[in-house]
Amino acid sequence: MLTSIKTNEFRGDKSKELGMMYFRVALILFGAQLLMGLIAAIQFIVPGFLFELFDFSVARMVHINALVVWMLYAMIGSVYFMLPDETGVETVGIGLGKLAFWVLTAAVTVVVLVFIFIQVGSGTETSIWLINEGREYLEAPRWADIGIVVVVLTFYWNVFATYMKGKQTGIMTVLIADLFALAGLYLAGMFFTDNISMDQFWWWWVIHLWVEATWEVFVGALAAYALIKIIGAKREIVEMWLWIEVLMLFGSGILGLGHHYFWIGTPEYWWEIGALFSALEPVPLVAMFVHVLYDWGKEQGKAKAEGHPGAVMNNGPAMAWIVTNAFGNFLGAGIWGFFHTLPQVNIYTHGTQFTAAHGHLAFFGAYATILIGMMYLGVQYAYGVKKLTSTFKSKMAIFLIVFGVLGMTVALTIAGYEQVLVERAELGGGWTAFFAAQDLPWYIQAQVWRAMMGVVTFVGFIYLVWDLLTIGKHAKAAQAAAE
Ligand code: HEM
Ligand code: HEM
Ligand SMILES: [Fe+2]
Repeated sequence: MLTSIKTNEFRGDKSKELGMMYFRVALILFGAQLLMGLIAAIQFIVPGFLFELFDFSVARMVHINALVVWMLYAMIGSVYFMLPDETGVETVGIGLGKLAFWVLTAAVTVVVLVFIFIQVGSGTETSIWLINEGREYLEAPRWADIGIVVVVLTFYWNVFATYMKGKQTGIMTVLIADLFALAGLYLAGMFFTDNISMDQFWWWWVIHLWVEATWEVFVGALAAYALIKIIGAKREIVEMWLWIEVLMLFGSGILGLGHHYFWIGTPEYWWEIGALFSALEPVPLVAMFVHVLYDWGKEQGKAKAEGHPGAVMNNGPAMAWIVTNAFGNFLGAGIWGFFHTLPQVNIYTHGTQFTAAHGHLAFFGAYATILIGMMYLGVQYAYGVKKLTSTFKSKMAIFLIVFGVLGMTVALTIAGYEQVLVERAELGGGWTAFFAAQDLPWYIQAQVWRAMMGVVTFVGFIYLVWDLLTIGKHAKAAQAAAE
């Protein structure tokens, strides 16, 4: 797929090709994630489906772990991709980066195979080390945890040394600090305590402080880089926005952690802290939204004034996904998050399908979208084309995936609403109420809709892969014909 073009201009081919290795695995894992989601969705409707062959617990676990892992792959890929552009030098340890890639990929393969083949058994000290650590989203056994830490340290050293050697842009400075926090937080999910409250307390440090602080800052830096690359946005402006976003994201995101401490046995002062700071979290998301649209509008205006409408945008599909990211982050994390973040509301919605609705739209809107955008930047580079224009397949991909995920979100929101009314408000919670609410038609129909919208999402994914594999070749042929 890679056809490096030889020019005198510095492009950082070695780093970019390393980035592409990570992108490819990310895409495969994304596909696996969706397939597992479909199996789990069918099991909601037909509980006996694949029972004792491929249980719901396994399908769900692989679904959400593959989610986290593909995003980490795509994030590492994005960093290697942008590193030479930002620093002006090649990544210092390319060989090391490749070695880390193969070690990580081998470890992920073994972990997934163990998840799939060893599905039941008692939880012991040995199973924590060898099979499953039992923490939602981070279920990898401890040997793999340690391996991941080593790989991430290698990655971090590589990025840091390259940063020190080359130019130090604002985007890179933010990224260096952010990646340090991101990697460090992983350690909070690596030890085990018998006390479930304590265990959950630390587990949230990884989950919440990743997605609502460090990952958000990460996508802020990615969007800044991508806007410069795609529409030639002014560096001073995007970097100014980035610093404001960093300030606001950390301001609300860190203590926003309190919205997970309402009911797990932590002191009651977390109600106030969680309510206040997490309610402020949508503010930086609005800033990110305005940032992307403002820059885009400004650049489009400039192009029009110069008499070439739109010509400044050199990667249509990547830009479409980044604009979707601005909307998606705001909707999924900001709006759907805000809905249930006050303890007065959360006491009813906690752990219902409402949570799943928010989880889907937030992860998709804030992260999947921009990482797909980065993959399109990768394709443009790999084929050495000046411009990538959306094809029919690019449009089908973005339309079906966005429509599918929005459809799933609406269906799950309805299911959650029914649970709040029937299970929590009317029947007062408890085990019997939990099952009673799931037997009602509103709930069952919502689950059927979710499964159907999941299929729509999956068809969109097939278009996406097809497009990523072919769009570069067409663009190259078109460019050759025009020259
Ligand atoms: C991109 C950023 C975000 C992502 C990816 C995300 C994702 C998630 C996920 C997956 C869960 C379920 C965790 C579990 O398995 O228990 C969750 C829970 C929650 N999120 Fe977010 N979230 C984000 C941002 C936000 C924001 C900004 C808010 C508030 C304004 C928020 C409020 C909540 C609340 C209150 C819960 C707990 C739900 C419950 O009680 O069951 N989230 N989030
Ligand atoms: C083919 C499309 C998909 C289907 C059918 C699907 C289905 C499912 C199912 C059945 C669950 C278990 C829910 C539960 O235990 O109540 C789940 C959980 C989850 N899925 Fe998906 N999913 C799909 C795509 C996605 C995508 C694209 C993302 C994000 C980018 C995602 C993120 C999540 C998350 C974060 C959870 C955990 C939610 C929570 O604990 O609240 N899924 N999914
Ligand atoms: Fe949170």
